[in-house]
Amino acid sequence: MKKRVVAIILAAGSGIRMRADKPKQFMELAGKPVLMHAVEPFAKNILITDIVIVCEKGRVKDTEKLMGDCCPGKTCRIVPGGRTRQESSYNGVKSCPPETEIVIIHDAARPFVDAKTVENVLAAAEKNGAAGAVVKTADTIIVKKGDFIDDIPDRKKTGRMQTPQGFRYGTILRAHEEALKNGMTNATDDCGLVLAMGQNVRIVEGDPLNIKLTDKTDFLFAEELIRSGEVKRS
Ligand code: CTP
Ligand code: MG
Repeated sequence: MKKRVVAIILAAGSGIRMRADKPKQFMELAGKPVLMHAVEPFAKNILITDIVIVCEKGRVKDTEKLMGDCCPGKTCRIVPGGRTRQESSYNGVKSCPPETEIVIIHDAARPFVDAKTVENVLAAAEKNGAAGAVVKTADTIIVKKGDFIDDIPDRKKTGRMQTPQGFRYGTILRAHEEALKNGMTNATDDCGLVLAMGQNVRIVEGDPLNIKLTDKTDFLFAEELIRSGEVKRS
């Protein structure tokens, strides 16, 4: 039987910082919802057998309609999320079919993930148990202590964590369970849960164009990336 590799797309956030009339993953970008852009690279990838889309409980039915037959040849289910990203991710992980071996978790707010990143994350997750896409930072990163700088780590040692992030199924399930046991409830990142459990997380080189839409200027930038042909969309 074919190995089950599940893509979990997190779309249950409310997009407060975007200040729009609907969550950013449902806004239209070049004629289709951001969520559709985010799902497509996974839907097209032959290594992925199943797709789980996590969205707000009250939007499950509408999202089913919106997405239609977005993943031909794969099982696609839409499941309710939670109040935090961590809770939504845990719900997605728990909704995977029992034979799942690998999961790859991606933010619905990132419409431009490329096939190469997906494949590299999957391979590294299978080999190492956990892996995530990281890009270099052009800015120097500081560590805060109240209103003051506590530390300035060597820039060469810092990076920006993106999604997708991939895991062996047992690893991410246990990471979620351990996090809750230890009172960790608001992690913004799944690799962070594995790290908190004391396990290694492999870095995979990410793509700087795999941006996360957070506010209005990100949206303008995303539209320009498409318009200029800098990112290719089908
Ligand atoms: N997310 C989720 N469930 C939540 C919170 C976030 O599935 N309870 C998802 C978002 O939909 C998004 C991803 O996690 O795809 C990254 O989160 P973020 O960029 O913070 O999105 P929002 O939480 O929607 O935005 P904001 O923080 O501005 O409200
Ligand atoms: Mg958020």
